[in-house]
Amino acid sequence: MIITIDGPAGAGKSTAAKALAAQLHFLYMDTGAMYRAVTLKALRKGIDWQDRAALIALTRKTTVVLRQVGAGDLQVLLDGEDVSAAIRQVDVTEKTQYIAQEPVVREVVVSWQRKIGEQGNVVIEGRDVGTVVFPKARYKFYLDADAEQRIARRLKDFTAQDEKVDTATVRKTVLDRDQSDMTRKASPLKKADDAIVIDTTDLTVEQTVAKMLGYIDTGGLSL
Ligand code: DC
Repeated sequence: MIITIDGPAGAGKSTAAKALAAQLHFLYMDTGAMYRAVTLKALRKGIDWQDRAALIALTRKTTVVLRQVGAGDLQVLLDGEDVSAAIRQVDVTEKTQYIAQEPVVREVVVSWQRKIGEQGNVVIEGRDVGTVVFPKARYKFYLDADAEQRIARRLKDFTAQDEKVDTATVRKTVLDRDQSDMTRKASPLKKADDAIVIDTTDLTVEQTVAKMLGYIDTGGLSL
C-alpha cells in the first residue's frame, strides 16, 4: 500500500508522515531529502547552478540511500556518507530549487523513489508524490497550513537544530520556496484531484495523524 503526502514547506508533512509510518509499521520515504542530498553534493563540488548538463551528470553518478533507523526515522546516506544533518542547512534549503526544477534530474530521483515504492508498504512525502511519482497511490493526502504558522514551525525546527536564523530570513525562505515549488514547469506542487486535503494550521501532530488514520482502511494490517 502506498500513501502519499504532498504540501508546502512547514505544513507538517514530515512529522505526520513519520508518525503515520510508525503507527502502520510502514516504510517512511522523505523525497525532499533526496533532492537536498543531490543539492549538497553540487554545492560541495561548486557546480554552476545554470549548468544543466553538469547537474544531470552529477545526479546520475549519485547514490542516495534512506536508511530506516528506529520507528519512522531516517538516516540519509549520500554516496555512503551520513548527511542527515548537513542537508537541513539553510544554504542547502535555498539552493534545492535549482536541482528540483531540472526535469532530467527529477526523472532520475523519481526512479529512486519508485524503486523504494516497489518494496511494499510505504508512506511517502514530497511535492509531487501523489501527482507524478505514485499517481495510483491507495491514499493521497495534501497537507496545508497558513503561511504564518508554517513560518513559525520552520523557525522552531531551526532553533531545535541550534541554527541561528532570524524570522525575516525564514519568512523569505519559506515564501520563496512556495513560489518556486508551485510555479516551476517540472512537476510543480499541486493537489492531486483525488487527494484528501487537511488544513493543519490549528492541529497538533497527533490530531493530524488521527485524521489521516480516519480515512485509511487498516483492515488486514496489524497495528
Ligand atoms: O520537503 P523538503 O523541504 O525537504 O524539500 C526540499 C525541496 O525539495 C523543496 O523545496 C522542493 C524539493 N522537492 C521536490 O521538488 N519534490 C519533492 N517530491 C520533494 C521535494
